[in-house]
Amino acid sequence: MNIPNHIAIILDGNGRWAKAKGMPRSYGHVKGCANLETICDDMKELGVKYLTVYAFSTENWKRSRGEVEGLMKLFRNYLKKCIKISEKNKMKVKIIGDVTAFDEDIQQKIRELEEFSKDYTELHFQIALNYGSRDEIVRGMRRMAEDAAQGRLRPEEIEEETIGNYLDTAGIPDPDLLIRTSGEQRLSNFLLWQLAYTEFYFTDVPWPDFNKAELLRAIDTYNHRDRRYGGVKEE
Ligand code: FPP
Repeated sequence: MNIPNHIAIILDGNGRWAKAKGMPRSYGHVKGCANLETICDDMKELGVKYLTVYAFSTENWKRSRGEVEGLMKLFRNYLKKCIKISEKNKMKVKIIGDVTAFDEDIQQKIRELEEFSKDYTELHFQIALNYGSRDEIVRGMRRMAEDAAQGRLRPEEIEEETIGNYLDTAGIPDPDLLIRTSGEQRLSNFLLWQLAYTEFYFTDVPWPDFNKAELLRAIDTYNHRDRRYGGVKEE
């Protein structure tokens, strides 16, 4: 089986999963968070080199105050715990998104985790927090315009690669496979630039129930796709 080098996942369906069990949405997020730990182990075991997950979007602040507070608490705990997980999995962790919107203690935990794990190479794990692809592009293009204005970059030097280098994912190869759980079939402002040639896999399974068997199903489907980059299909 051909294992994708980079898998991206839109973690969706925690709330519905919990509701179906007569439980509060926060219970779904706790289970979703636990599942993230398991899936990292599975990815490492399968030899996936890059994993990027969409955990909190720029739009998610609009959820109820209680839900947002619950998620912040979960992030605090997880970021702390993730130091041990990164050590166990030899996993380099990077947060993508505009982290300046988070409380200072969360930003500090992010810095500590990234610093602690920066030399690991077994699995590169990107967590998108306060992430929106258009916001990422705006932030990147502002920096690029600033570099041009300061004479550090000439407009005629700008290539596709240059733009990629101004995004939060600079240096990270584009995803080969995107998985979205829980039935919705849209990108919700996730990695718009980076997913240009990525294969998409949508499943009805909600994130807390997405396990290794489901992951293997997604990879198997990916293996049966005829991957093309605009070229001629091989006979
Ligand atoms: C989508 O489910 C999930 C979220 C908005 C939050 C994702 C968070 C986690 C998986 C856990 C914590 C993650 C980290 C990095 C610690 P939903 O609430 O939109 O579900 P619904 O569509 O059924 O309402």
